[in-house]
Order: sequence, then structure tokens, then C-alpha cells
Amino acid sequence: MPYQHVPVMTKEVIFHLNPKAGQIIVDGTLGGGGHAKEIIPGIAPNGILIGIDLDQDAIEHHQLADHPNSFQFHLFQGNFIHLPDYLKKLNIPKVNGILLDLGISFHQLEFSGRGFSFRKDEPLDMRMDIRESVRAEDLVNDLDEKALVNIFREYGEERYSRPIAKQIVKSRKKERIQSSRQLSEIITSVVRPAGAASRRIHPATRVFMALRIAVNRELENLATLLDRVPDLLTSGGRLCVISFHSLEDRIVKKRFKALEKPCTCPPDFPTCVCGRLGSLRILTKKPIRPGPEEIRTNPMARSAKLRAAERR
Ligand SMILES: C[S@@+](CC[C@H](N)C(=O)[O-])C[C@H]1O[C@@H](n2cnc3c(N)ncnc32)[C@H](O)[C@@H]1O
Repeated sequence: MPYQHVPVMTKEVIFHLNPKAGQIIVDGTLGGGGHAKEIIPGIAPNGILIGIDLDQDAIEHHQLADHPNSFQFHLFQGNFIHLPDYLKKLNIPKVNGILLDLGISFHQLEFSGRGFSFRKDEPLDMRMDIRESVRAEDLVNDLDEKALVNIFREYGEERYSRPIAKQIVKSRKKERIQSSRQLSEIITSVVRPAGAASRRIHPATRVFMALRIAVNRELENLATLLDRVPDLLTSGGRLCVISFHSLEDRIVKKRFKALEKPCTCPPDFPTCVCGRLGSLRILTKKPIRPGPEEIRTNPMARSAKLRAAERR
């Protein structure tokens, strides 16, 4: 089956990534290659595209195989935090651009069969990389109630974290929770009477998102890569990050700021006297959001925020 995903804010990504002929660009979250497809005409001829994805489905079914432009294409199934190792393998010291389009693809949600969607009855897996050992089923059945509350609260910002976790623990005593339908029904048994009617989203949305983030260590991966970016970009090289979650965006915003102004002056100094200049220059003072037309035609774009920065 062809990989199905509509890339978000493609024009804005290309504008800020600004790919040029012969450049080396990394798409750290290749997915179906929708963004990458638009990057290729910019770097052709002789450019190099490095595509990375955790998910074997993306590696096998991306849409770049028959791309007519001349460019070198290197593909890695793995975590973008390992970009330094992949570059070493290719003997490439630095790159001109890095794109991260975080989160989950439409394909993973709808067709992976791995329980990402509360609307389906699938094994409760949620691993983007199936070589990893911990599945959502393991978290839901093995963590204690407090740890579940923390995950739902921290990653899902779920108001009903406590009663949901309590119900999960009660239910799993009777029967192991193994499917997305089972978990979704447990959540709706708790949330529906109290608050579902007033919510715009399905009651299971936040818990499913929280579990996915925990299973794939999404926030840790993002923070790790951002720390490594200054050493990986050439001077003038660009970094674009699309996030879909307020916690992700907060990490990007904070890290960008810290890398732009690594000031070491005491906090009570009225102005900076250390004069330390950071390694990045922020290109987007505020995050860029998709326009109403894009949100109308692609609901997955709804919460997207794009931030970009340039290596000094
Ligand atoms: C929103 S989709 C990207 C869609 C892609 N831009 C396109 O145009 O089709 C996010 C992708 O990133 C992958 N992913 C998430 N975290 C990752 C990580 N730490 N390292 C590598 N890939 C990751 C997911 O498996 C998923 O395929």
C-alpha cells in the first residue's frame, strides 16, 4: 500500500529550509517523503538527501523511489538522535539543513495496525520502531497507578488522569488490557458521564497521545537532537521543526532561545555584559501556523507549529 500522509506547511518549510543546488539536507522524520519530495528539486543536481525514520513502513513505502531528479539518497531506519553516527558512516561532517516533522503520520494512525488510534480495534502497541521492546500494552498493564497518572497528566495534559488510571488498574486485575478498543472503552467508561459532552475531542484522545509519546520517548528524542544540532549544521545551515504538541513546542522554543543567547550574566544584571553569541539565529520570532485553508483540507495540520533557526 502506498504511504499516505499529507505533509504540513510544505511551502513554509521550503522557504525556511531554503535548499540550494548541491546541498546536503536531512529529513529526520521522512514518513511518506512528502516534505522530502519538495526538498529534492532545490538540491538537485548533485545534492544529497538523508532520510531517517523509526518506522520500517516509511523506509519501505515512502514516495521517493521513482523520483526523476538527480540526487544522492541515503536512507536510515532509526532514531534521528543518531544522526551524528549516520553522518560518520557517510563521511559527511556537516549538513546544510535539517527538518523534523514530529509526531505521527496519517499512515501510522490509520494503517499501521499498531493501536495508535482509539477508533480501531488493534493490538495496543504504539511503537514507531517495532525493534524496540516496550509497547503501550506493557505500560498500561505494568506501571503502577501513580506512574500512569504522571504520563497522562504530563504528556497528555489530561484532566481526568487520576480516575482514568484508577479504572485501568481496576480493569486489568480482571483481564489484561491488550487492544486499543479495550483501552478506549475503559477511558470512556470513566470520562463520558462526567465530562465528555462538554469536550470537543474524543475522551480517549489525550491518553492515547500521552502513551504514544511515552512509548517512543518523543520529548527526550527531540531535546537530545536539538542539543546536537549546532555541531551538525554548516554556517548558514537551517533547522526547521514542526511540532504538534505544546510540550514539544516549548522544548523547541526554549532550546532555540538558549542556543541563540547563551548569556552567562547573573539574572539581576539589567543588560548582558558577557556578550556571548550563540550558535543559532532564530528565524521565526513567533511559530508559524498553517492557514485556515490548510487546516480545512488537512485536519492533522490543526495544531502544527513551525519554528526555524540558522547556524551562525
Ligand atoms: C509527521 S510524520 C512525518 C511525515 C513526513 N514529513 C511526510 O511528509 O510524509 C512523523 C514521522 O517521524 C517518525 N519519527 C518520529 N520520531 C522519530 C525519531 N525520533 N527518529 C526518526 N523518526 C521519527 C515517525 O515514525 C513518522 O514517520
